[in-house]
Amino acid sequence: MDAAAMNAPVQPTSLQDVLSFAAHHATISRSEGAEMHAAAGVKQLRTLFDIPLDTTPRDAVAVLAELVEAAKPGLSATTSPGFLSWVIGGSHPAGVAADWLTSAWGQNAAIYQCAPSAAVAEEVASKWLLELLSLPPECSVGFTTGATMATFTCLSTARLALLDRLGVRIEECGLAGAPPLEVFIGDDAHVTNFAALRYLGFGSDQIRRVACNDGGTFELQALAKAMEDSAAAAKIVIGQAGQMISGAFDDFAALAQLCSEHQAWLHVDGAFGMWVRASERRRFLAKGAELADSWSVDGHKWLQLPYDCGFAITRHAQYHRRAMTMDASYLTRDECDGRHPSDYVPELSRRARGFPAWVMMQVLGRDGIGQMVERHCAAASELAARIDGIEGVELCHAPTINQLALRLTGIDDAQGDALTHAMTERLNATGRHFLKTAQWRDHTIMRVSIMGHETDAQTVAGLARDIEVLCREHTADANAAFACNN
Ligand SMILES: Cc1ncc(COP(=O)(O)O)c(C=O)c1O
Repeated sequence: MDAAAMNAPVQPTSLQDVLSFAAHHATISRSEGAEMHAAAGVKQLRTLFDIPLDTTPRDAVAVLAELVEAAKPGLSATTSPGFLSWVIGGSHPAGVAADWLTSAWGQNAAIYQCAPSAAVAEEVASKWLLELLSLPPECSVGFTTGATMATFTCLSTARLALLDRLGVRIEECGLAGAPPLEVFIGDDAHVTNFAALRYLGFGSDQIRRVACNDGGTFELQALAKAMEDSAAAAKIVIGQAGQMISGAFDDFAALAQLCSEHQAWLHVDGAFGMWVRASERRRFLAKGAELADSWSVDGHKWLQLPYDCGFAITRHAQYHRRAMTMDASYLTRDECDGRHPSDYVPELSRRARGFPAWVMMQVLGRDGIGQMVERHCAAASELAARIDGIEGVELCHAPTINQLALRLTGIDDAQGDALTHAMTERLNATGRHFLKTAQWRDHTIMRVSIMGHETDAQTVAGLARDIEVLCREHTADANAAFACNN
């Protein structure tokens, strides 16, 4: 290349070219679907991504084309109906499109003046969210990355409020100068609650892990006794709407009663379970949850938003703002301004999460969310019924909502664990499903989470059929081995 050509600036690819490229490949990828689980190993992916970094600018479409090729073998089919692992929503196309617009507009939803439309969309989506979940309209909502940061936000608010009621300003005395607080949490609570507590400076000495029942929710008598025995100046109780293995719900009316006796703060981890409140038929499961002080909920679960979106909700808006607001002269707040999104979350610069939430709440509607929840719960019950008749397979619990756990039985527990693990691998090898094992009550279990918006009864019928065939093959193999050895 001659010197003149080398020094010529790279022509920027047109906006039309880059966005059309993305739309074209996203459409192909969503319609073809990815391998159920990423086929490539980490070595292959590193080779594909770890190319020499040019010092000179490159053409954007060429780089995007390389991204498509490099990423393809490492994409999981999280948006496909058969992806039943973890609790992962299906990234609804309308939410994806709204997310694209959000990125294209490049709005920084920090303070109102920076992104007025984003601020108002979030304000309205907050109002709608409270309607969908039947929570008090005066609650405040922070749009976080997910439920983990929603829990962090709510617990930070809880601590500030509880100490304030004792006349202690944590902003001034800090943790070192504050009287001890204790947190009461079920032993089977989601790990992210423990993480949020750790980020907030709670150590295991301030966390009372309370025994749980078969469904993994509070043993109420054990909780009452632990709270009674505690000499802490203030108390926080963390309940669950949707236990991650069983899908079970705490008895919120009883928790609220206990909390009111102890002037404790009740927080609900309702990452997916709070959405049952949009369903006529399943709402009763989360009855009494409205009595809590705060709630964490995910948008990327039953609202089917693309990652990342969670909601930190509390009825104590003033404390919420006091816990999160940042003030600086350059973050001007005029009288006429609307709501500042960053007053409710631990970040300043942030995605305008209100736009896709505003879109998805309308695209699904309350009835659509409720019907999807019911469809997923019915699919879990259908799977349970089909599995019940298969020899050698055991359900770990009757489904409460969309979550199911099952295991294979063996001559002893160790063999049952090994068979469960092997069956999960063989099901994954069919390429029709993706499932994962976990430990539950000292056993290896296969976890089934029905959460994608396209997952239905047909999906689980296929899964039950495959389980049955594999079980039959296994029994035939075992019989053949027995015949050979005798
Ligand atoms: C019950 C429960 N709580 C909390 C979380 C954490 O949510 P996130 O991963 O969005 O931070 C999850 C995620 O699956 C969950 O199922």
